[in-house]
Amino acid sequence: MASDARAERNARPKVTIVGVGMVGGTVAQLLAQRDYADIVMIDIVEGLPQGKALDLLQTGPVLGYDSILVGSNSYEDAVGSDLVVITSGVPRKPGMSRDDLLRTNQGIIRSVTEQIAAVAPDAVLIVVSNPLDAMCHVALETTGFPRERVIGQAGVLDSARFRTFIAAELNVSVEDVTAFVLGGHGDTMVPLSRYSTVAGIPITELMTPEKVKELETRTANGGAEVVSLLKSGSAFYAPAASTMAMVDSILLDKKRILPCSVLLTGEYGIDGLYVGVPVKLGRSGVEAIMQISLTEDEQAGLRSSADAVQALVDTMKSFETNA
Ligand code: LAC
Repeated sequence: MASDARAERNARPKVTIVGVGMVGGTVAQLLAQRDYADIVMIDIVEGLPQGKALDLLQTGPVLGYDSILVGSNSYEDAVGSDLVVITSGVPRKPGMSRDDLLRTNQGIIRSVTEQIAAVAPDAVLIVVSNPLDAMCHVALETTGFPRERVIGQAGVLDSARFRTFIAAELNVSVEDVTAFVLGGHGDTMVPLSRYSTVAGIPITELMTPEKVKELETRTANGGAEVVSLLKSGSAFYAPAASTMAMVDSILLDKKRILPCSVLLTGEYGIDGLYVGVPVKLGRSGVEAIMQISLTEDEQAGLRSSADAVQALVDTMKSFETNA
């Protein structure tokens, strides 16, 4: 581990990133540039986190940041982290669904979160690994953390994709486009077009229903579209940026309202499942779950998303009993 006397300072929040592949490495890069946190990068591959951390540390003088980055293969370096981003696990290959990753990533996330809980019992966890909603269940169950501190990143990414397509279609700035996508991070996600706006105007007033449907479908397939182009690995720039928005809102206590995967305990008529809904993110994690009124169709879409998550949770249980 690189020795750095500045690492002794304690004014900055400590963020640990577990899994420093494309998503984890990019989160580290974005966070380093934000210049308000110190960063520990952990991976099982020897040299990888150390090399990426050193490379990013040496970027500091050029870009003008003082973030300290430490790479490590040991969870001991995560001691006392305020926030932990979990990106470990294998990504999809072309033709695979996120759900095909279930068995492999379930074991990885269990092992990672067990070790994190031991050294950083007060941390807020952001889970990024797929299949996202199911991996949140694994993290919650393994750590025993309250639901406020185990949060899944998916909705920010899915809505970013929707915003991108809306802006391109209407030839307007992405900055003026807001979009909401609810439900699981999978084929059953529910883009909420009524609540998706350009400068406050619902897109349903700006486009034909056919066009809206087309953009919703492209959004739901957004991850697969990138996987099929990359051929090895899946998207990482937008997933990392989406994670960054959540980290900012939590550590800077911004209280942004962002779509995230959270354990519902009766909200939206769903009990005991991780599903993407709008939440308020602040220093303690999820500070509120926003309940918005849904049409019957939207509620049915959310229900079928929840059913898909339930099916994955059941499959994971069957792995355990057959193990
Ligand atoms: C995606 C993967 C990362 O949606 O879930 O691109």
